[in-house]
Amino acid sequence: MRNFLLGIVFTLVIIVVAGLLAAQTGYVDFRADQKPSALETKVAMKAVDASTDRHASKTSNPIPANEENLVAGAKIYLDNCAGCHGEPSDPESEFGHSFNPPVPQFFKDPPDMSDNENFYIVQHGIRWTGMPAWDHTLSTAQTWEVVTFLSAIGKLPPAAQKVFESPALPADLPK
Ligand code: HEC
Repeated sequence: MRNFLLGIVFTLVIIVVAGLLAAQTGYVDFRADQKPSALETKVAMKAVDASTDRHASKTSNPIPANEENLVAGAKIYLDNCAGCHGEPSDPESEFGHSFNPPVPQFFKDPPDMSDNENFYIVQHGIRWTGMPAWDHTLSTAQTWEVVTFLSAIGKLPPAAQKVFESPALPADLPK
């Protein structure tokens, strides 16, 4: 029994050392233009969901989904999130697809987490992905506004849809 346990410990040590060696000698591929492996997608996604579920405070969203708040949320989204997460005129952002893992495209596939979980993710970001933490740049009220917007993204009133019709940047900005 003792030898069996020692064998397991030895095998685990070898696996860890081999992993560290592979990383230190350049065998880990850090390119973002590769598709995430099936293992990464499955394990990492589950881990993010589980961690969000565990850590997100159960606070309920204080910002009701009325027209005024959805317009405010749409503006915050357009200014800060649309470049990565897409907008009605660009629901499959090429830029968003250039990340690893790719950025979820909310106008094609709306976020399905609860408001308190979306709030937690927007505030804290998701490390090892391109999702930034917004707690230094958006106030708590603005974060709830954009969360309210996210939950209503498939059923926006015309006034909120209109936010996306006014050009964010002059079309002829030099590249
Ligand atoms: C620089 C690109 C980038 C910007 C800008 C960005 N995000 Fe993200 N976001 C990501 C990436 C990448 C992920 C996916 C991480 C993953 O796969 O776990 C993500 C994930 C999310 C998620 C979780 C989605 C889900 O269903 O798992 C939410 C919610 C979110 N972002 C909201 C926002 C909001 C709101 C803003 C603007 C305030 C924003 N993001 C700005 C890159 C970005």
